[in-house]
Amino acid sequence: MALYRHGNELLPERREITGSIVRHYDYASRIRRGKRFGRLSKRRLSFWMFLLALLFLIYLSVFDVKLQLHGKFGRNSAIRDASLENFGFEGLGNPRPKHRKQHFPCDVDFVESVDDVIEPKDRMNFTQFSLEYIDREENPEPRFGGHQTLEERENTFYSRNQTMHCGFVKGPDGSPSPGFDVDWKDKEYMNTCRIVVSSCIFGSSDFLRRPTSKKIGDYSKKNVCFVMFLDEQTISKLSSEGHVRDDRGYIGLWRVVIVRNLPYIDMRRTGKVPKFLSHRLFPSARFSIWLDSKMRLHTDPMLILEYFLWRNGSEYAISNHYDRHCVWEEVLQNKRLNKYNHTAIDEQFTFYQSDGLTKFDPSDSNIPLPSYVPEGSLIVRAHTPMSNLFSCLWFNEVDRFTSRDQLSFAYTYLKLRRMNPDKPFFLNMFKDCERRALVKLFRHRPDGLPPPAASD
Ligand SMILES: *[C@@H]1O[C@H](CO)[C@@H](O)[C@H](O)[C@H]1NC(C)=O
Ligand SMILES: *[C@@H]1O[C@H](CO)[C@@H](O)[C@H](O)[C@H]1NC(C)=O
Ligand SMILES: *[C@@H]1O[C@H](CO)[C@@H](O)[C@H](O)[C@H]1NC(C)=O
Ligand SMILES: *[C@@H]1O[C@H](CO)[C@@H](O)[C@H](O)[C@H]1NC(C)=O
Repeated sequence: MALYRHGNELLPERREITGSIVRHYDYASRIRRGKRFGRLSKRRLSFWMFLLALLFLIYLSVFDVKLQLHGKFGRNSAIRDASLENFGFEGLGNPRPKHRKQHFPCDVDFVESVDDVIEPKDRMNFTQFSLEYIDREENPEPRFGGHQTLEERENTFYSRNQTMHCGFVKGPDGSPSPGFDVDWKDKEYMNTCRIVVSSCIFGSSDFLRRPTSKKIGDYSKKNVCFVMFLDEQTISKLSSEGHVRDDRGYIGLWRVVIVRNLPYIDMRRTGKVPKFLSHRLFPSARFSIWLDSKMRLHTDPMLILEYFLWRNGSEYAISNHYDRHCVWEEVLQNKRLNKYNHTAIDEQFTFYQSDGLTKFDPSDSNIPLPSYVPEGSLIVRAHTPMSNLFSCLWFNEVDRFTSRDQLSFAYTYLKLRRMNPDKPFFLNMFKDCERRALVKLFRHRPDGLPPPAASD
């Protein structure tokens, strides 16, 4: 399905652009028809036509959701191509449609300057325990995520000293690497990082977007690792487009790290390795910021850490979805857009319901999260035990079930909270408009990603 190839924010954009094309067509054809009538009636007629068009516009803006959902315009190729986010993209030749449901960035009250940023001393408030990771299994069929049983899975949710599955699981001695191999030189570099900004492109699914250099201060340029994970296919495509690494391995601020032996056939699932497991890839890092490749970083990372973590003592920050709050809606949406094998979605969703996942209830004043659906394209985290545990748990869901991480976020968080009622986890779910203020948004490279294998 072509729809696999676009970003995970397809519907709102499609809908909005559909709306504007339809409106425009409608208005123009009415005006043209108007010209056939005599001069006398023309004025009056155009007044009525204008009124009619206006009413129709209003009608459309109210009902175009439904039109779209009934698929009347869903096969239009101009529409298919339009998986851009609807604010702040730098156009690639398409005119910017009017009348879209806009999502604006909001003001974010960053400190004035990086000099004012104070990294907090170790906070004794964070839940302390020791987390270790299973390095090797004797199973003759090695998998990157290992072979965790459901019983083992259940026990990993307790925030206590434990050794758990969290990717990078080797097979018996002499078996091939589980995947996600990087050069030892890169490994050495990654081991030195204390603060990381990272992103990835696999399977040539996107263009390369360098952080806006003039927005990044000298302190961050010296002290923050900006790491872009690419596979060989992507780097050769980017090189052919003129993004060539300098002799230190950099393209702009990005230090390029080539990943070989990708652990999954599904590139989206492979992308979840750097997205969730930065504490494993950067074992000395204390803080990290994950950035989806559709965004250009437009804000100094120190200001981001200060605002989302340090200022109010959070250890994990992620934005909520701009449109959907309930996992039930997210499931429907994933099916509607054919984002994934429907049977696999149902299996995951049924499992979650049987294990206590409930609908999002905005009227509940004790609601544990402002939304059950995240917009996971920007994640800011301190590498604390709870934050690392949550990252591993979430990764294991994506490894076991579908790679659609928006389906597993709330379940994982709520179960973690439920099983550790006295152990706080300071998660800050911030507003999507704040995410929009930190970055520039783009569409993904059209038709970049091959569809995942059906079984994956
Ligand atoms: C620890 O957290 C509590 C709230 O959970 C807060 O009132 C207190 O100020 C925090 N202490 C420190 C040292 O941050
Ligand atoms: C957990 O591990 C830490 C560090 O390894 C150790 O100091 C602590 O005693 C352990 N706690 C328990 C309950 O075993
Ligand atoms: C930090 O602020 C956000 C947004 O105001 C809030 O949702 C979150 O609970 C706060 N976190 C802490 C630990 O106070
Ligand atoms: C979809 O997923 C189910 C369950 O995971 C699997 O049995 C089935 O083969 C998959 N369908 C396709 C078309 O791959």
